[in-house]
Amino acid sequence: MSTYIYAHRGASKKAPENTMPAFELAYQQGADGIETDVQLTKDNIPVLIHDENLRRTTNGMGFVQDYSYDELKKLDAGSWHSVNFRQTVIPTLDDLLTWNKEKQLKLNIELKNNLIEYPNIEKIVYEKIKKYQMEENTVISTFSRKSLLKMKKLKFDIATALLTSKRSRDLIETAKHLSVDGLHIRFRLLSRRLVDKAANNNLYTAVYTVNQPFSISKVIKSNCHAIITDVPDIAWSIRKKLEN
Ligand code: G3P
Ligand code: MG
Repeated sequence: MSTYIYAHRGASKKAPENTMPAFELAYQQGADGIETDVQLTKDNIPVLIHDENLRRTTNGMGFVQDYSYDELKKLDAGSWHSVNFRQTVIPTLDDLLTWNKEKQLKLNIELKNNLIEYPNIEKIVYEKIKKYQMEENTVISTFSRKSLLKMKKLKFDIATALLTSKRSRDLIETAKHLSVDGLHIRFRLLSRRLVDKAANNNLYTAVYTVNQPFSISKVIKSNCHAIITDVPDIAWSIRKKLEN
């Protein structure tokens, strides 16, 4: 089976991360899936934005959790990337799920709850995925082990994955304990041994964030389940070449 290509925050090299234009571009570039980050607004609306703070990717300031969605949607989340994307808004998870109804791309929804806990984010996101009947095509990932334990207890019928950027001897044991389906590892942790050990324990491996051609080839050749990249177009061409 060949490696699935997930566009990291959408096609985030050429369009502003976590916006509808970035998702649309990822689709046009042949991505199999979208990776996106979720935070909650003051009125508990799941919105797609990487940072807890608005400063880096919008013209606003302060924390996402301190604003209602009606306030956040007035912000410009595109100009920081380039003028062509002026007035692009912060999308909601509903916006992505609605757009994806026809496209049926795979989704990797990352809960950004390792710094701010956002009580109930798991259930809120889960219910949205169910509402759009995307449970078979979605994986929820997070760096927060506490959150994964919560999802285990809630017995979600959606795949979950443990995100990690740190080497650890007991990674597989931890993943088993959390009952996740996959490991989403940073590229520097990638080894054939880890991928095989994970597979022997019924865990798939996805690798982030891989943008250099040599590294993209390495991930695909390592038989990883998925690659998460800012440049799905490049990954697509490399995968095609390797398949021939
Ligand atoms: O889900 C993979 C990757 O997105 C995790 O790190 O900081 O880019 O959300 P980050
Ligand atoms: Mg992410």
